[in-house]
Amino acid sequence: MNQQPIGVFDSGYGGLTVLKEIIKKLPQYDYVYLGDNARAPYGTRSFESVYHYTLECVQWLFAKGCPLIILACNTASAKALRTIQQNDLPKIAPHNRVLGVIRPTTEKIGDYTKTNEVGILATAGTVLSESYIIETNKFYPEVNVFQQACPMWVPLVENNEYNSAGADYFIEKDLKKLLSQSGNIDTILLACTHYPLLKNKIQQFLPGGISLLSQGEIVADSLADYLVRHPEMEERCSKHAELEFFTTDSPADFDAHATIFLGRDTHAKHTNLEEVKLAGKNA
Ligand code: DGL
Repeated sequence: MNQQPIGVFDSGYGGLTVLKEIIKKLPQYDYVYLGDNARAPYGTRSFESVYHYTLECVQWLFAKGCPLIILACNTASAKALRTIQQNDLPKIAPHNRVLGVIRPTTEKIGDYTKTNEVGILATAGTVLSESYIIETNKFYPEVNVFQQACPMWVPLVENNEYNSAGADYFIEKDLKKLLSQSGNIDTILLACTHYPLLKNKIQQFLPGGISLLSQGEIVADSLADYLVRHPEMEERCSKHAELEFFTTDSPADFDAHATIFLGRDTHAKHTNLEEVKLAGKNA
C-alpha cells in the first residue's frame, strides 16, 4: 500500500489537540503523529536546541514517507520553521513541505476582535520570538498584540496536573499579568497547542466579555485550504484514513495521556530517531 501520510509534530502531547481537529475536517488522509516527549518541553529551550530537535523530527517524518508536515507546536513554528523552510528543505527534500501554526492563526486573528486588542498566552520561547506580534502586524496592522509567557502551563499539562489546585494558581497569576497590560483585550489566543486542556480552568478566571480562542480548528481549515490550492501535494498524500503514533519516550505513558488530548485511544510506538541521528553522523 502506498503510504504517504501527513506528518504532525509536537514536542509532546499538545499537537494532538490540532490533529484532532485536522482529522475531523480531513478524515480521508493518513497521518503519522510524532511527539518528542523525551525532550519536552521545548518552550524554555534555546533557539539552537529547538531548531535541532525539530529538524531531527522533520527528517524522521520525511523518512516515514510524509510529503507534508505540520509543526503543531508554536515553539517549533516560532523558532525553527523559517530556517527549516529556507535553509534545510531545499537541501534535504525540495519537493516536500513543512507548515506551521502561527501563520494560519495570525491570518485570521483580526476577524475575532472588535477592540483590536488581542492577548497571546504562550511559552517563553514563542513570546520571546515575537512571532505573533510580527505576523499579526502583517495581516492586521491595526491590531495590538499583548503577550504573556506561561512557563508552568506545559509542565502542568505534560505531568497530568492540569486539573489540580497548582494549575489554578499559575493560571490565575499569568492571566492577571496579561490582563494588566490593557483593559481593552477582548480576545485571548491560546498560542500553545497544550493549552486547550486548560481551557475550562482559564474560563473560570476570565472576566466576562473576553473570548478564548484555540488554534485547532483554524489550523485544520487552513490545511484544507492549502490542499485545495496545491493539488500536486494533495495527490501525493495517501488516503486510507490510517493513523500512526510515535513518541520518543514511553509509549505506555503516551497512550495513557493521548486519549485526553485526542478523544480516542492510541497505540503508540517508540522511536529514538536513531535512523536520522545515524544518517547525520555518516553525512
Ligand atoms: N505545544 C507546544 C507549543 O505550542 C510546545 C510546548 C513546549 O514544548 O514547551 O508551543
